[in-house]
Amino acid sequence: MSDRQAVHDYIVRNRQRFQDELFEFLRIPSISAVAERKGDTRRAAEWIGERMRTAGLEVSIHDTAGHPIVLGEWRQAGPGAPTILIYGHYDVQPPEPLELWTTPAFEPTIRNGRIYARGSCDDKGQLYLHVKSLESHLAVNGKLPVNVVVIAEGEEEVGSEHLMPFVRAHRDRLACDAIVISDTGMVGAGLPTIGASLRGLAYMEIRVQGPAQDLHSGSYGGAVLNPATALARIIASFHDAQEHIAIAGFYDDVDPAPVFRANMERVPHDPAAFLEETGSPLAWGEVGYSTVERLWIRPTCEVNGLLSGYTGEGSKTVLPAKAMAKVSCRIVPDQDPAKIARLFEAHVRKVAPAGVTVEVLELHGGRPWRARLEGALVEAGARALKYAWGKDVVYAGEGGSIPIVPEFEEVLGAPAILLGFGLPGENAHAPDEWFSVENYELGTTAMAELLFELEHYQRS
Ligand code: BES
Ligand code: ZN
Repeated sequence: MSDRQAVHDYIVRNRQRFQDELFEFLRIPSISAVAERKGDTRRAAEWIGERMRTAGLEVSIHDTAGHPIVLGEWRQAGPGAPTILIYGHYDVQPPEPLELWTTPAFEPTIRNGRIYARGSCDDKGQLYLHVKSLESHLAVNGKLPVNVVVIAEGEEEVGSEHLMPFVRAHRDRLACDAIVISDTGMVGAGLPTIGASLRGLAYMEIRVQGPAQDLHSGSYGGAVLNPATALARIIASFHDAQEHIAIAGFYDDVDPAPVFRANMERVPHDPAAFLEETGSPLAWGEVGYSTVERLWIRPTCEVNGLLSGYTGEGSKTVLPAKAMAKVSCRIVPDQDPAKIARLFEAHVRKVAPAGVTVEVLELHGGRPWRARLEGALVEAGARALKYAWGKDVVYAGEGGSIPIVPEFEEVLGAPAILLGFGLPGENAHAPDEWFSVENYELGTTAMAELLFELEHYQRS
């Protein structure tokens, strides 16, 4: 039997154990956003570190002012062998609202070939399948075809604040020829996908102050500007009638001809399935662009949260003192998050009505990213995915953000490839998140295959 076949047989033979171990990982509520989960988040870091160690990697856990960074290294591939950096995150989003989960978020359950749990897909399942692919190589052949550094962080879902300086401070240790990431999705079941771009993010908060304290809406209403009304006007000014973003200068740096536009036609988009997946009554967006274009190559300005006045049971006649909105702009190449934040703030100040005071805060940001879709890395990725799925890959833009990707490329000088195994409707960040059992196994197979494919890879 060839080395290749033996590795792939090992993956099939160990299917049940690989799944049981992932379940253990998923039971740890490593919610990075919540201070009281700090201990659990550390436990997840230690858990994944221990699994990397038993797979055969040399493991170190690096404390930060936030959550720990876990490194797993294997550097015995011999002179001239390339070094591959594999990145993933062990933190997850909060599971709320809890009552909307069919089974509890941190009690993984299989239904209809899907593993339901917070983090199953984003990103514990996709991180762990890399660890299993490394284990499979090392268990069967006692070696890897390439040098490997695995870096697992615990702050991806909250902006990767401490990973950025860590990467800069350890650029020599993290030096590599390619960066491999599984934290995205496939365009459809059975359609292996390579990510062609990521949107970036400029995350803002608007605080509107009206009167010094809440007022009786009868005694004062109509004579004092209501901050909720002021905020509603500000928010309404973000889009024009064509649903273009009406912030001056917002589109200045948007790439008018994204490289992979031609490929978009190859991506199946079923409008009915899209409505079913979102539960929204209508597809909506910028006039002149298709749904796929709106998601892949166009920026957004989106309210993520709103707060003002009385929202409890029944009614209370009150004129609130304050109103607050969290707003994030997804941005595309070549928009810059800091510039967008500046333009956003200038716009809010310009349209804010007299009668309230307005504060604009910049919470966090991340740059957009565009893949190089030719070269040895993408070719190796496409062959590895084809080996597992038996189909040619599709190149897809990604609506979401992974701010460390452009940072990695810039600091380490190596290209990144996004090989993701989520599926449409996977409910990432929402109740009933799931990861396909089949994709967990095929993803492991594909990533094991990728290591074989990269044996003679040279950065171009
Ligand atoms: N896995 C996602 C990124 C993603 C989402 C890629 C959808 C492709 C499609 C990642 O875990 C994530 O959620 N990132 C955050 C980043 C933010 C907190 C800076 C995001 O996109 O909101
Ligand atoms: Zn996420």
